[in-house]
Amino acid sequence: MIVIGRDINIARKELEAGGLVAIPTETVYGLAANAFDEQAVASIFEAKNRPAFDPLIVHTNSIEKAVDFVASFSPTAKLLADAFWPGPLTLILPKTTRISDLVTSGHDTVGVRIPDHELTLSLLAKLPFPVAAPSANPFGYVSPTRAVHVQNQLKDKVDYILDGGEARVGLESTIVRCLEGEVEVLRVGGLSIENLEAVLGRKVDRVKTSSSNPEAPGMLSSHYNPGKSILIGDIDKLLAEIEGKTIGVLSFSNKRTSAKIVKQLVLSESRDLTEAARNLFAALREFDTAGIDIVLAEFVPEEGLGRAINDRLKRAAAK
Ligand code: TXA
Ligand code: MG
Repeated sequence: MIVIGRDINIARKELEAGGLVAIPTETVYGLAANAFDEQAVASIFEAKNRPAFDPLIVHTNSIEKAVDFVASFSPTAKLLADAFWPGPLTLILPKTTRISDLVTSGHDTVGVRIPDHELTLSLLAKLPFPVAAPSANPFGYVSPTRAVHVQNQLKDKVDYILDGGEARVGLESTIVRCLEGEVEVLRVGGLSIENLEAVLGRKVDRVKTSSSNPEAPGMLSSHYNPGKSILIGDIDKLLAEIEGKTIGVLSFSNKRTSAKIVKQLVLSESRDLTEAARNLFAALREFDTAGIDIVLAEFVPEEGLGRAINDRLKRAAAK
């Protein structure tokens, strides 16, 4: 039986023994293993059924510790780390040989993040190594924002689940490649582009990702798949058009009234994008187990966290 608790000493012992521990972060739960232990890292890929071409993010609790396995922090990388860590930002930086090719899928760069969660920061502070941790879901599925999500899906594949409550941000980190002064966004996420640009004092480029784009491995166009078909558009119009199906509706703020709707969830009644982001993945999971054929959803405003919400919706809807 899988053990869930709040004991960082159990989590530490499991990690030191080469085990897998689900850790809470402010973005989503991660599936952690000792980043310096190749066998432990290999078991992450196995538990998630994750293809080897999809590199892992390495988590630690201080910039001093990160310097151990990062070949160089450019002044821009340092600026961003100082501004946003601990927080929902992953920096892609040159790696040293301390990080194996298994972690980085053969790239000479490594994704690094200091997560903003008290329990996990205390755990990381006690560890003599950083942890590699992808989101704690089977490959291709929606990321977990609660301990029970991990429990339901990974079951006995994980040695301990450290329960840190509901993830505060609810979307994965924003991934920024920061090499030789160049700044590029590989994945929009829990840190808004506006906040990033405000600190940099300039606009940043967003790398277009697709399954065939090697610049951003793992950023497949179909991901976060909740198992049900999702149609995104004008919900009222879609409701009028669709016949003979049991319908779920995922709206930003306004409830619809229609006899066709079997289940309806609202992301944020007050149109608060932070609240909407926090609710998104749990809502997608709820529709997955509901007795419906199809989910009708709508985009939120394309600003702030709205960009990442729309990105996840698009990819959840992609076939
Ligand atoms: O918020 C998050 O980032 C969560 C929590 C647990 O920290 N983690 C997460 O990990 O979302 P994961 O494995 O689901 O997504 C990691 C993505 C990879 O799919 C890849 O796109 C990118 O990070 N990545 C990691 N290392 C990279 C590298 N060296 N170069 C380019 N992209 C990299
Ligand atoms: Mg993931």
